[in-house]
Amino acid sequence: MPAALVPLAAQHVPAAAALVTTGVARLREQVPVLPAQWADERVVGRLVRALAERGSGLALQAEDGTLLGFQAATLLDGHGGRWAYTPDIAHATAGIPDTDRAIERLYAGLAERWVQEACVEHVVTVLADDGAALAAFGRLGFAPHVVDLVRDLGPVDGASLPDGGDVRRAVPGDAPAVLELHAALVRHLRSAPVFLRIPNAPALEMQRRRIADPTGAVFVATVDDRPVAFLRIGPSADDVATIVRDKATASITGAFTVPELRGTGIGSALLAEAVAWAREARYVRCAVDHEAANGEASRFWSRHATPVAISLARRLPPMTVPGVA
Ligand SMILES: CC(C)(COP(=O)(O)OP(=O)(O)OC[C@H]1O[C@@H](n2cnc3c(N)ncnc32)[C@H](O)[C@@H]1OP(=O)(O)O)[C@@H](O)C(=O)NCCC(=O)NCCS
Repeated sequence: MPAALVPLAAQHVPAAAALVTTGVARLREQVPVLPAQWADERVVGRLVRALAERGSGLALQAEDGTLLGFQAATLLDGHGGRWAYTPDIAHATAGIPDTDRAIERLYAGLAERWVQEACVEHVVTVLADDGAALAAFGRLGFAPHVVDLVRDLGPVDGASLPDGGDVRRAVPGDAPAVLELHAALVRHLRSAPVFLRIPNAPALEMQRRRIADPTGAVFVATVDDRPVAFLRIGPSADDVATIVRDKATASITGAFTVPELRGTGIGSALLAEAVAWAREARYVRCAVDHEAANGEASRFWSRHATPVAISLARRLPPMTVPGVA
């Protein structure tokens, strides 16, 4: 390919932002409920400029200077070590025939540096309809890790409750029950086959505060007055795909039904309440994410919402780090 890998710099920003927004606009044609701001070159350009200024990216440039693609990442500590994260707005390639090779060159150039910095976990968020990028990163050893979904605030299908069932907004007195359900959710996510590294459920006082926080809402389902499920919704989360970060987007950040009552409509009934709350609070849409390995969550959320971004992860063996045998 007569193209050169060069550091992502200020002169690449307009073309890089245009590549990103072209992809977002294409996805919005299929999923019009997505926020408009990420199809706006000025908005995306500001973020890409910050990445370029930090020197954390590479650009692939044709001989005539045309930008063929770019990728940038932030190095973070966590996940049991250092990891490199490329958000959905921090990479794109032009619709060129050898997209696969372009993605490989950009990733290889960056990964070489990351490994020098003992960074062996690499995560990239790809728009769900970008088959070429999903295939290219898949070939490079990346696998689905987290899925982000979005939905409108219209009616929720399948809401029903078993005999003696009720769904209501939690009050501070429900904090012990919500804590118990939340702790069970954490155990579910830490267990096979999900194996998520996740902190303990926040303690009782924090549960109480979350329930009382007027910017969000926690809903509980009871059967014969026994709490059996909860769902939490609130302002847009900041640890999700960029294309669903938006002031008019409410984020669902937790849901759990006790195993013996799953599949009876309780989760859908909680979702219906949460969607009604979001409508009332003047949100336009809601978003949720789940681990790809969480089959129940995947089936449930893909029934109620549309996948819009997939985060793919690749973990290198520790011996890849220079000096580690
Ligand atoms: C995801 C979860 C909250 C869904 O809760 P739930 O109470 O089982 O949800 P519902 O009963 O409304 O829907 C579950 C399924 O039962 C089906 N169902 C609902 N009511 C039904 C009924 N009366 N008869 C038959 N099937 C029914 C639904 O169609 C749905 O099918 P699907 O799995 O193909 O989507 C639950 O599976 C759970 O707690 N999982 C573990 C924790 C977790 O992963 N949480 C999400 C983290 S992102």
